[in-house]
Amino acid sequence: MADIQRTLILLKPDALQRDLLGEVVHRFERKGLKIVGMKLIRLTDDLLNEHYAHLADRPFFGDLKQFMMQTPVVGMVLEGWDAIAEVRKIVGSTNPREADAGTIRADLSMNTPSNLVHASDAPENASKEIDRFFNQDELFTYEKISDRYVFGQGV
Ligand code: PPS
Repeated sequence: MADIQRTLILLKPDALQRDLLGEVVHRFERKGLKIVGMKLIRLTDDLLNEHYAHLADRPFFGDLKQFMMQTPVVGMVLEGWDAIAEVRKIVGSTNPREADAGTIRADLSMNTPSNLVHASDAPENASKEIDRFFNQDELFTYEKISDRYVFGQGV
C-alpha cells in the first residue's frame, strides 16, 4: 500500500562543481516531490564514518570519504508518495553506465564516486539518515496549491 514518505538526498561535490545542482533539484521538483528540508552541509570524517559504516571494509571507502569532503554537499529531505523508492528510480543505479537512460546518473554522469546523488535506500535508513543530517527545526510541513493535483484530493 502506498505511503507518504520522507527521504534523505545528498547532492555530492561533483553536482556542485559541475553546476548541476539546479538540474538535479528540478528533476525532483518536476516529479512533484516536496522539499521539506534543504541546506549546505560540510561533511566530516566522523559523519562519513557513520553514514558509510556499511562500506568500511570496501577498498574504495577512503576515496569515497575524501571525495565527499571536497566541497560542501546539499542535503535535502523530499516528501511524496513512496518517496524513498520513487527517488531511487529517478536517481538510477550506482554505476552510471549501468543506470537506465532517463535517470539522473545515466543522463548526467559516467563513473563512481562522481554519481551526483546519494539517496536513502529503505524506510529504516531514510529516517536514520534524516536524523543524522537534519535537526527537527530544519524540517517543514506546509501546503502548496499544487498538492491536490500532485498528491490527490484531500491531501
Ligand atoms: S556496493 O558496491 O554494492 O556497496 O554499492 P552501493 O551500495 O550501491 O554503493 C554504496 C556507495 O558507495 C559508492 N561507491 C563507490 N565509491 C567510490 N568508488 C567506487 N568504486 C564505488 N562503488 C560504489 C556509491 O556511489 C554509493 O554511494 P552513495 O552515496 O550511497 O550513493
